[in-house]
Amino acid sequence: METFEAIFNRRSIRKYNNQKISNEQIKKMLEAAMAAPSAMNLQAWQFLVADERSVIESIVKAVPHAEMLKGAGAAILVCADESVEKSITYNMQNTAAAIQNILLAAHALGLGACWIAVHPLEDVEKNVRQLFNLPDTILPVAIISIGYPGEDLKGEDRYIAEKVHFNKW
Ligand SMILES: Cc1cc2nc3c(=O)[nH]c(=O)nc-3n(C[C@H](O)[C@H](O)[C@H](O)COP(=O)(O)O)c2cc1C
Repeated sequence: METFEAIFNRRSIRKYNNQKISNEQIKKMLEAAMAAPSAMNLQAWQFLVADERSVIESIVKAVPHAEMLKGAGAAILVCADESVEKSITYNMQNTAAAIQNILLAAHALGLGACWIAVHPLEDVEKNVRQLFNLPDTILPVAIISIGYPGEDLKGEDRYIAEKVHFNKW
């Protein structure tokens, strides 16, 4: 898929049709995630893939605003590895870059995906930590729900010239 097509037509897709996502598709999205830029190229991230129905359902129970996962074929929990990168600010920027790459890769594969917040929602973070028995140095940042799209959303033109400042404010 052409890069600008992917950027401008990606939307958050929250309805899926229960179809499974193949291992090849999951690998491609994770390769895209790990191709993202990261501070000092430390790549301080870890990924937990849920592709079993029972595990996906357990996330829905632990994360009340993750209802869209019910029809999803997979979920990817994106985490920062605080044993590698101590700065919370860099960890947020690194993982955001990885997450965006997953969203774009999903779209390029003809899949729909949605960013589901975990950090900084303390209760959700705690539930996710417990659910997956995460080590203390692993910070769960977001869950990406992924599935074959059950809705068709068009790209939106969000360019606002007033938000752009050339050479001076
Ligand atoms: C940091 C962040 C957290 C988000 N958390 C959620 C979420 O918990 N649930 C959800 O449905 N969408 C979530 N989204 C998706 C946004 O709602 C969505 O990107 C925004 O409405 C723009 O729509 P679009 O992605 O279709 O362009 C999140 C997006 C970001 C960047």
